[in-house]
Amino acid sequence: MLSEFLDTSDEWITTRTGIKTRHILTDERFEDLATEASARAIEAAGLCPDDIDYIICSNVSNYYVTPHLASIIQGGLGIKGPNCPTMDINVACVGFVYGLDICDALLATGRAHNILLVAAEECTRFCDWTDRNCSVLFGDGAGAVVLTQGDNLLARHMTSTPMRDVIVYRNPMEPTPFETGEGIDTHHALEMKGREVFRMAVTSASRDISQVVADAGLTFDDIDYFLLHQANLRINEAIRENLKQPEEKFPTNVQRFGNTSSAAIPLLLDEGVREGRIKRGDLLLMSAFGAGFVTGTAIVRY
Ligand code: COA
Repeated sequence: MLSEFLDTSDEWITTRTGIKTRHILTDERFEDLATEASARAIEAAGLCPDDIDYIICSNVSNYYVTPHLASIIQGGLGIKGPNCPTMDINVACVGFVYGLDICDALLATGRAHNILLVAAEECTRFCDWTDRNCSVLFGDGAGAVVLTQGDNLLARHMTSTPMRDVIVYRNPMEPTPFETGEGIDTHHALEMKGREVFRMAVTSASRDISQVVADAGLTFDDIDYFLLHQANLRINEAIRENLKQPEEKFPTNVQRFGNTSSAAIPLLLDEGVREGRIKRGDLLLMSAFGAGFVTGTAIVRY
């Protein structure tokens, strides 16, 4: 389909990225996708929406600058409030892993008991569909989990290095009557230095994974599954080679969903659990990278 209007081919996309299909919102509402993922997570946890006492939503896709998506999801789930705080976090593709870290702090201090952490993205809306550099990569998706008190987040490592230009998407903006317009860039599509991101992703993930595994007093062999951000199959393959771990420990779905930003890891988790591959007690290492440049890695006992 893409090769009909872009100078690209199925062969190029498959060999360079691994991606074969993606899901794109058309006449569905983005907020419904986010709410549905949330409802399924609450059901899978054996809870009902009113048991949730905090909602955190990772996204860069909300249609509104305000109100935030977590509050819209709260409404969609029928949680009346006011005793269920909600907030969005924007850490691009790493939002789910950063979210785990925030939830852990809220749970550890008893400020919440059942937190809904949802990651929802409509990345295809950011793409300039005439730019083959970006538009062949991204897909839409949402994933969610419910987190409760415990000690199963064994180690984490979050980083941030200011590099504005490697992946950038500007808020739609027009000059006000009081501005000249100078310095306001009205270009509204995602721009990315693909090769640079590729290199940084492999280097930083290999480094961060080694660090969290050591911090937890574990070895790579102790990890049951490595749930890596799904941006490009070749990135994950390079990380796997650095870690010298078998392929079956690295589930992937970028072939079917493309890069769904922060939704990628919870989508992987959901598939693994529902297929019966990921079991209670398994050690899961989650690692993501993204715009910022930001990385996040965590080890969780499921
Ligand atoms: N179809 C066909 N050809 C394409 C193309 C496309 N969609 N995109 C780029 N090309 C061409 C380039 O123009 C270049 O041609 P040239 O050799 O004649 O100059 C050639 O393919 C190789 O380009 P290059 O950029 O080196 O390819 P790559 O192997 O690095 O793959 C990405 C490009 C973007 C797929 C890859 O770098 C990547 O996945 N980077 C990470 C991006 C990412 O993860 N972003 C999100 C972070 S959360």
